[in-house]
Amino acid sequence: MSMQKRVAMISGASRGIGASIAEKLLSEGWAVSLGVRTPEASTFGDNPDALVCRFDALDPESESLWVEQTLARFGRLDGLVHNAGMMIPKTVLEAQDADFDLIFNVNVKSPMRLSQLAWPHLEKAPAGRIVTVASLSGKRVKSAGSGLYAMSKFAAVALGHGLRQCGKENGVRSTIICPSFVATDMGNALANRDSTELTQPEDISRIVHMVLELPKTASIAEIPVHFSVEDCY
Ligand SMILES: NC(=O)c1ccc[n+]([C@@H]2O[C@H](COP(=O)([O-])OP(=O)(O)OC[C@H]3O[C@@H](n4cnc5c(N)ncnc54)[C@H](OP(=O)(O)O)[C@@H]3O)[C@@H](O)[C@H]2O)c1
Repeated sequence: MSMQKRVAMISGASRGIGASIAEKLLSEGWAVSLGVRTPEASTFGDNPDALVCRFDALDPESESLWVEQTLARFGRLDGLVHNAGMMIPKTVLEAQDADFDLIFNVNVKSPMRLSQLAWPHLEKAPAGRIVTVASLSGKRVKSAGSGLYAMSKFAAVALGHGLRQCGKENGVRSTIICPSFVATDMGNALANRDSTELTQPEDISRIVHMVLELPKTASIAEIPVHFSVEDCY
């Protein structure tokens, strides 16, 4: 028996944007399966509509186990949110092979594998959706120090578009969200501004919730989000 509520998997739901998406979806009547590196530290464990699973983007076995555990518990999968991510603030002249491999493993390869594992279940859902929290650094390279990160986020944007093309006929929709600085551990460390001036994690969760619930006839490819105003964003 699958449950009545729609079910979303959210990677990196331990804190920041991922935790905010989990809270928002729970408040909107979804069940959530949260992929986190340290499940024992999660504050969502007591919620009957939340399943907390171990997920480490550097451990592919944890990805297949997470998908299996989600289906075993809820019997369905309606949404997959690629949120877990990392930043290495190196220019493309400073980055070493090991930096490249690490950031691409976390920001690109793991989401691609998770999408492959989740896809057959999303196809079976009435309205399967994938949301990729990429970055505005996936649209433009704003500074030398964001060069390596931007390479990985351009690739994450391409992943989201590749998934969109795969879903053309079966109704699975993929949306890429591209924020500038968001007031999280990551954003606060980089922005050099008061965190109240930045986009709030709750603003991103509202957008994620909206795209997860839109019909397939209102397919949105990308949503750039800026805390203020840039030339094009
Ligand atoms: N904050 C911004 O300004 C900003 C702007 C644009 C895009 N983004 C993107 O938004 C997403 C969420 O970022 P955030 O701002 O919420 O950052 P954050 O507060 O630093 O949180 C990052 C999340 O990713 C998880 N994570 C990192 N490496 C992982 C790994 N190897 N395996 C599994 N999980 C891993 C972290 O888990 P642990 O708690 O275990 O470390 C944490 O849950 C990221 O993809 C980021 O690139 C952020």
